[in-house]
Amino acid sequence: MTHEYVSYCLESGLERIDLGARSGCVDLAMAGDRRAQNGDAPSRRPPLPVPDLVGEKVRLRAWTADDAPVLAAAWTDPEIVSWTGVPADRSLEAAERWIALEVERRRDRLALDLVAVPTRPGEDRVLGEVGLGPIQWDRRRAVVGYWTAAGERGRGIATEAVGLLSDWALDALALDELVAETSVGNPPSAAVLRAVGFELAVERDNRQAWRLRA
Ligand SMILES: CC(C)(COP(=O)(O)OP(=O)(O)OC[C@H]1O[C@@H](n2cnc3c(N)ncnc32)[C@H](O)[C@@H]1OP(=O)(O)O)[C@@H](O)C(=O)NCCC(=O)NCCS
Repeated sequence: MTHEYVSYCLESGLERIDLGARSGCVDLAMAGDRRAQNGDAPSRRPPLPVPDLVGEKVRLRAWTADDAPVLAAAWTDPEIVSWTGVPADRSLEAAERWIALEVERRRDRLALDLVAVPTRPGEDRVLGEVGLGPIQWDRRRAVVGYWTAAGERGRGIATEAVGLLSDWALDALALDELVAETSVGNPPSAAVLRAVGFELAVERDNRQAWRLRA
């Protein structure tokens, strides 16, 4: 993560951590041992489920190894590079590793990253990504992140995907709050959050922090 979330982190007195391709902010105290201090040790709690979420345009599913080339390509898309955190290593092997580690992040209840694919039967191409992470169980709060593949933008994909996952997270995971940060130079991203019902919480230094409360 380069700059996203940073002002929200500062505003909240939180520190950012890396979670593969996406990161966010967590309590300083959690940086040392996230699992132990997240109030939700993996040994005591089941892995995060992959929810069965289907909208008019998109269905959300887990990442599979076959998606690695699309993920590696997304990491080189100029918009995605500008506005989200992409890893320094954007190779196919790195994308394969990121996908393999998604299972561990879910097992450890740190994050949940899903692929948006068309709802239409028989279609499975990657339209975009939507995820929660890090999840701060002690604060019942999660950071939301998303991108839509270059050729698929402007059709409501992100709005539906973020809406589906947000509603589910507040309900099924019993979170109190979802947060996201946009740059003022990225109006489509703010439009997505606004359409889903997020409210602008803080605006500072060209960054906007958004929150959606249960
Ligand atoms: C931001 C992003 C995810 C939006 O994806 P998308 O599938 O095109 O989003 P949607 O079609 O659901 O909605 C786009 C919204 O942006 C609006 N929009 C598009 N271009 C715009 C512009 N230049 N100015 C203002 N609004 C704009 C659209 O009108 C739409 O809003 P509406 O539903 O109120 O009409 C996509 O552009 C993207 O992947 N960007 C790079 C990664 C990124 O920025 N991720 C978010 C990090 S915070």
